Amino acid sequence: MARRKKVYEGKAKTLYEGPEPGTLVQYFKDDATAFNAEKRDVIEGKGVLNNRLSEYFMTGLNNIGVPTHFIRRLNMREQLIRAVEIIPLEVIVRNFAAGSMAKRLGLEEGTQLPRPIIEFSYKNDDLGDPLVPEEYIIAFGWASQQDLDDIVALALRVNDFMSGLMLGVGIRLVDFKIEVGRVYDGDFMRLIVADEISPDSCRLWDIETGRKLDKDVFRRDLGDLADAYTEVARRLGVLPTNNGPVTKPTLIN
Ligand code: TMP
Repeated sequence: MARRKKVYEGKAKTLYEGPEPGTLVQYFKDDATAFNAEKRDVIEGKGVLNNRLSEYFMTGLNNIGVPTHFIRRLNMREQLIRAVEIIPLEVIVRNFAAGSMAKRLGLEEGTQLPRPIIEFSYKNDDLGDPLVPEEYIIAFGWASQQDLDDIVALALRVNDFMSGLMLGVGIRLVDFKIEVGRVYDGDFMRLIVADEISPDSCRLWDIETGRKLDKDVFRRDLGDLADAYTEVARRLGVLPTNNGPVTKPTLIN
């Protein structure tokens, strides 16, 4: 069988040419990195969990009319997605102070913010994804003012959906990151949610205990990352409630 063509390899995922024009296959690796890949490890089962969780979140978003790149899951580690032109921004939404914002402003982690706050980082590993003001984004042509207005609206809808979903299973959505891509229907350009939504790209805290159920477990050496992600999947009903091995979950449809 002919090997398919690799289109892009990132830190946690690889993209391959899809079966039809305008599609790609997104493969979730077990690799975990933090601090711009200064810290790295392989967490067995992480790719399987993130494939399932990103499928779950993006399917929900598609169903409420928030457009995403997700088409369908293909197998344990792969999903079929729409090819997009990625906007080189990390769009971060924060509901509570944590991470770099807590550090920058000297706020205690967990402080509720007066409203969801959106910030943008320029996606560039060599520069360590620096925070950038809207002025830069527009001046350098990464996105127009209209694009930014649309991106903010999209990000806030994702925030409301994800916050509610998580609240329903006793989890606080502290903050998260999405990426946005352009798709073209003839002359018409639309912005859609791309990349992944998973515990790699969110901060998720148990509401009762404050237990961290996201990649901070890895960043800060707080325990077993796959256990934390499995707990999120289990609560959402994405995995069955038996305690089977993470590497071979029995999949439900
Ligand atoms: P931060 O507090 O480190 O700026 O992170 C904000 C959110 O963005 C948090 O949910 C983790 C997520 N994030 C990523 O998805 N990728 C990254 O490279 C970084 C730095 C953060």
